[in-house]
Amino acid sequence: MLISDSSKLVFIDTHAHLDSSDYNHDRAAVIARAFAENIGIITVGVDLYSSREAVRLAERHRTIWAGVGVHPHDAKTFDEGVERGLRELAQKGKVVAIGEIGLDYYRDLSPRDTQREVFIEQIELANELELPVIIHNRESTKDMLGILRKHRPKRGVIHSFLGDYALAQEFISLGLHLGIGGPLTFPKNEVLRAAVKEIPIDRILVETDCPYLTPVPHRGKRNEPAYVRYVVDEIARLKGIPAAEVAAVTTENARQLFEI
Ligand code: NI
Repeated sequence: MLISDSSKLVFIDTHAHLDSSDYNHDRAAVIARAFAENIGIITVGVDLYSSREAVRLAERHRTIWAGVGVHPHDAKTFDEGVERGLRELAQKGKVVAIGEIGLDYYRDLSPRDTQREVFIEQIELANELELPVIIHNRESTKDMLGILRKHRPKRGVIHSFLGDYALAQEFISLGLHLGIGGPLTFPKNEVLRAAVKEIPIDRILVETDCPYLTPVPHRGKRNEPAYVRYVVDEIARLKGIPAAEVAAVTTENARQLFEI
């Protein structure tokens, strides 16, 4: 077991997929690099199996926590048995959220009506268990807003937010936080950078979505939690405030939202 101290965390990567097979040959080294920089990690499941793996990782490391849920890509795997499994996992002490859940009309890997039903069921599960939700939204904003207005999660985050400031305000008005990750550093994302300048910092969480969405200057390679500092640096540059302040405020935001 790697020892790490929760009271000393400088950053919290609020969205990682540490159970990914991309880390099978060096997972311990990836985790050690994050801990060396006092980075706490929320690792999120995408189906029942990976949710179990996320919980297993969280139980073995003091500064790793888990989200459990079924991703919209995998919505077609959701049934009563899966819901029972998630509910059991969610009772464990290191589980801090229901997620990753949501809608994805870009890849459409599960039928859209199934995605919507499974998303709503998991929002209701989160509300019942008084846990925040970690939401994935891709090319599905209209239905996303409709569902969130009708089935309000009590707390949560729009992970990998990519919209403009008007959309950010819509989500904030629903009581949600915005997860900002590697895409903030991609040259084409001027609209996102303009939005981040305006979004109140107390609504921002930082994340990697590793092994995906690797920030510049490592873009094209595998992502990992240690790279969350490039996201923090870019937010600091855009807002014209010190990176240490962005790190401190976003870490406190994550602690409050996920009660860690
Ligand atoms: Ni993800």
